[in-house]
Amino acid sequence: MNSTQLNKEQIQTHFNKSKNILNIQLPSSVSSTNDVAKEQFLKYPNKLSIVATHKQTAGRGRQGRAFYSNLTQGLYFSIAVTPNTSDLENIPLYTILAAATLVEVLEDNLESPLSVKWVNDIFYQGRKVIGILSELVSQKGQNGIIVGTGINFAGNFSQADEEAQNVAGTLFGEQLPDYFNYNEFLGQYLHRFYDYHQAFQKKEFMAVYEKHLMGIGKKVNYSVNNEPHEGTIQGINKRGQLLVMNSNHSIETLYGQDIHFNSKQFIDL
Ligand code: BTN
Repeated sequence: MNSTQLNKEQIQTHFNKSKNILNIQLPSSVSSTNDVAKEQFLKYPNKLSIVATHKQTAGRGRQGRAFYSNLTQGLYFSIAVTPNTSDLENIPLYTILAAATLVEVLEDNLESPLSVKWVNDIFYQGRKVIGILSELVSQKGQNGIIVGTGINFAGNFSQADEEAQNVAGTLFGEQLPDYFNYNEFLGQYLHRFYDYHQAFQKKEFMAVYEKHLMGIGKKVNYSVNNEPHEGTIQGINKRGQLLVMNSNHSIETLYGQDIHFNSKQFIDL
């Protein structure tokens, strides 16, 4: 078996915690791992479910955009879990938790640091390499959080749309290095995700996220419901919402609305 072949036993070995915690599904191709993860959550609400694949036929991103999921070395996976908080307003913090986990687990394998573009994009060497899409699932009073992640490990975007060609990049160029093992990565990722999830109230992932946040102290342009705005990024608050100082020197809190930052302006920050 080579290191690019996804394998349940190997993932479990690198997870290195009890076998009862995980429900692992590895379809060879799927429309969207978020949809399968929702089904798995409804079957196993007390487990940490993971659905991972190298191919999605209808991968989606935030605000209804498509997510290019056909890279030769792409990994697309979703985690489904019962949030470890009774405060519904804290549930979006799972996106922050996932981003912090990703930068910590991946940076050891990389030549340069990763940066986070609020709220759900991760950049490497000036290009978007990871997107996160968190969704809620509810049934009979039971809430689940689905955290879907697409990682461009290696390959090229010659078959992708113009938007992806302009912004997207990969972690390892066109070829995955021999030393890289997907199962090891997923096991380590799940291990750290689970630790942060169990200790959710401590919110230790917030400091990791903010340390990697792009553009702090920089003036940026953004749109809210298609209305143009300009402001200086201050950081995040305890809910993970972005704080921006506007031209009147008052602080605006950005969350929930249709907020869009053009990615290109982050490349030179
Ligand atoms: C974004 O860039 O707006 C978020 C992209 C999230 C993509 C991942 S890939 C795995 C999971 N399944 C999906 O359909 N989307 C997420």
